Amino acid sequence: MTALELQDVCKSYHNANGVPMQAVCSISLSIQRGAFVIIVGSNGSGKTTLLNLIAGSEQPDGGRILLDGKDITDLAEHRRAADIGRVFQDPFRGTVAGMSVEENLALAARRGQRFDLGFALDGKLREEIHERLASLHIGLEQRLRQPMATLSGGQRQVVTMLMATWHRPRLLLLDEHTAALDPQNAELVLSLTGRILSQGEMTVIMVTHSMKQAVHFGERLLMMHRGRITLDISGTEKLRAQPVELEKHFEELRREELLDESVAQLLREQYI
Ligand SMILES: Nc1ncnc2c1ncn2[C@@H]1O[C@H](COP(=O)(O)OP(=O)(O)OP(=O)(O)O)[C@@H](O)[C@H]1O
Ligand SMILES: [Mg+2]
Repeated sequence: MTALELQDVCKSYHNANGVPMQAVCSISLSIQRGAFVIIVGSNGSGKTTLLNLIAGSEQPDGGRILLDGKDITDLAEHRRAADIGRVFQDPFRGTVAGMSVEENLALAARRGQRFDLGFALDGKLREEIHERLASLHIGLEQRLRQPMATLSGGQRQVVTMLMATWHRPRLLLLDEHTAALDPQNAELVLSLTGRILSQGEMTVIMVTHSMKQAVHFGERLLMMHRGRITLDISGTEKLRAQPVELEKHFEELRREELLDESVAQLLREQYI
């Protein structure tokens, strides 16, 4: 069953000189429910723009986006939020620094309801928050009353992950969510990612710059370049993929780009 479908989705922006450039070009894509899809690609290749379009924080110039068969292209971001969880690279983005760990989690648990912290943090919810944190076995349940600001980046990102998945959204978008962490914290957040995902039927799209992560995680791998998908592998092909092969593919794309640029430069020099 298809969870997410993109039909000929495009988005362009104007660069500093006012010239339009396509950040996402005619992307058509069908992702099965429960799939774990990895996206890699060079800087500026359109990965975040693609996630922005899916989440509704940007509107496409053309094409349609369907979630579980329902056309959500024109649905406002906040109306998609219950179905689409998101975690960003910046560990400070997903949580409120001045609020305690449990208050942050209560915010996620009570999303969409009228909110009053005193009321929101009743005994039952406190218990559930404690339980869910304790199940991660990293001791965060001991720090429930501490402000988020006292946690490490990795611990914050763990809480953000828990918040984004509290209500088991249909789709989870992870945009380089371990990139800003040191290796140890990145490992912690990654293992937690695996654990949270194994608990349910969520469909996940994870953007990463790490070729190691790209080959070890997920069952489908997409590579983006200049707003297009240049590689889409799954099954045994994905299982067999090696970081060095992906790097090679990257290098080829970069070489073509350099060639394109040098041809353009030559044309400019000779004809302008
Ligand atoms: N709001 C915006 N206004 C203008 N240009 C934008 C905007 N958002 C993205 N772009 C441009 O669109 C292109 C794709 O950007 P995007 O952020 O999607 O790339 P990315 O693949 O996520 O890169 P990175 O790996 O660096 O995060 C880039 O050229 C970028 O400068
Ligand atoms: Mg990005």
